[in-house]
Amino acid sequence: MKLNTLSSTLKISVLALSSVALSVNSNAQTFLKKHTEINPYQYEVVKEKTFAHAAVTSAHPLASMAGAAMMKDGGNAFDAAIATQFALAVVFPGAGNIGGGGFMLARKANGELIGIDYREAAPKKATADMYLDEKGNAIPSKSRDGALASGIPGSVAGMISTHAYAKLPLAVLIEPAIEYAEFGYVITEREAAGLNGQRANFLKNSSAPSAFTKKEWKAGDTLYQPELAATLKRIQQKGLAGFYEGETADYIVKEMEHTAGIITKEDLKNYHPKFRKPIEFEYRGNHVISFAPPSSGGIIIAQMLQMIAPFNVGAMGANTEASVSLMVEAQRRAYADRAEHMGDPDYWKVPTKTLTSNEYAQDRMKDYVPGVAGSSKVTQAGQVHESEQTTHFSVIDAEGNMVSITTTLNDTYGNKTIVAGAGFLLNNEMDDFSVKPGVPNMYGAIGGEANAIAPGKRMLSSMTPTLVTVNNKPYISIGTPGGTTIPNQVYEGLVNIIDHKMTIKEAIDAPRFHHQWIPDMVAVESDFPETTFNALKAKGYTVTKRGRFGRMDGVLITKEGQRNAAGDKRGDDSVAGY
Ligand code: DON
Repeated sequence: MKLNTLSSTLKISVLALSSVALSVNSNAQTFLKKHTEINPYQYEVVKEKTFAHAAVTSAHPLASMAGAAMMKDGGNAFDAAIATQFALAVVFPGAGNIGGGGFMLARKANGELIGIDYREAAPKKATADMYLDEKGNAIPSKSRDGALASGIPGSVAGMISTHAYAKLPLAVLIEPAIEYAEFGYVITEREAAGLNGQRANFLKNSSAPSAFTKKEWKAGDTLYQPELAATLKRIQQKGLAGFYEGETADYIVKEMEHTAGIITKEDLKNYHPKFRKPIEFEYRGNHVISFAPPSSGGIIIAQMLQMIAPFNVGAMGANTEASVSLMVEAQRRAYADRAEHMGDPDYWKVPTKTLTSNEYAQDRMKDYVPGVAGSSKVTQAGQVHESEQTTHFSVIDAEGNMVSITTTLNDTYGNKTIVAGAGFLLNNEMDDFSVKPGVPNMYGAIGGEANAIAPGKRMLSSMTPTLVTVNNKPYISIGTPGGTTIPNQVYEGLVNIIDHKMTIKEAIDAPRFHHQWIPDMVAVESDFPETTFNALKAKGYTVTKRGRFGRMDGVLITKEGQRNAAGDKRGDDSVAGY
């Protein structure tokens, strides 16, 4: 493997506005005063860099830098992850969150695996038919727009559970987020466009205007979020009770009134993260560890990688007709199983053991004929949703602890409801349930009984935070956003590294393809090779071009023991470390 130490940097042109920032609030800056290397008013996107000891890669430079700072201050990968998650809630509001949920997968340096499921849960008043009209037809806007679309948020509880493995006080880990919210940070062009694009929805879906709707944004503007800073301070001071009870809970429940939401104080108080035993399997001498149900991701990548293992994928070449058609046929089979068999394991018996066994994978591929396009034999086609704003971040520390977290509000800026007084966005994760058997969700995914809505149940996810070890030693932490494309992206990323010997940066940036059983088509990114596109068409595949999907971030330990961190070219993703 090529060791790539080049750091490609992209300068964001921003102005230093610290004098404005200081007038916002009287509270002291402790984090920013100490870490003068971090300037929220002038920062760079660093796409790749190799660090001697520890690294973080996330969707935003300020979040990665906050995580790295915690490790420099004596924290471990868990400290970094917690600081990064809270910071993303401020500097990457489209997906970073405290009003959503996610999955934390970790491998401690001593080999212990930890899977914390902080996925949102359906409120107690939720019913299987809550998004259907009188005739039994699905009303998509109801599960996507406004407070009724929100599951009970899990992120704050998830981070507090993660804190059991960290070294620094929780208060210290939340501080960077508080200071970014209170003293402001300069927004990128991408963020400005995102906020402007949703302004009307924010105003419609929220009971009051918010920090996001203050003005028409442009790159270089400073965004202050005083209400969010106050909420984060309540969490800093009171822990779980600072979010799930008291003032913050009051604000959440009050916000429900505006768009007929059903989350109650009891729902909030009763929310608990759950420990899940990670999915583990072998792929060409690599031990892959990924997330278990209620995520479908770990099972799907276990199925797909084992299905292609008997073939010499490396010899076929990356993104050639031979390798893509083989990989697509594995995608078709695994995603068919997703729709039928997967849901919250506390409500549905997911046959995880069978689905992830190598025998089953080989059996599923028995009818695979190289060079012949398969068929999903179903005409119904769901529309694949283009907006893809979940977020993934990866950390590897100096001791060899690895953390891989994917977290989301579901759609970009969730249900577009900012909780008045509390300053954060709520998710629209309820749309990840199967609102009616066979009716596609916003990612075109269909499901049935296994993923039907029930009170307290967690909606099936595709998020696939993943870790790899070789010879029992830490190697890779990787993941990505992208709805149902997520498992496919991680699968392709791992094949790019393991079979095609790409560096992690090359693997992340390579053009991607996606098949999810239904609709029966291969979606490819716009820079996907034209020759392969045409060859697949000639074989009888329906192939469509779509924009870029996902924003994969990962850290890989080089043979020399360094941390090679990479952020996806597709976003403002940026690495930090020391
Ligand atoms: O859990 C899931 O599978 C989805 N809610 C993830 C959504 C997502 O990745 C959005 N975009 N990037």
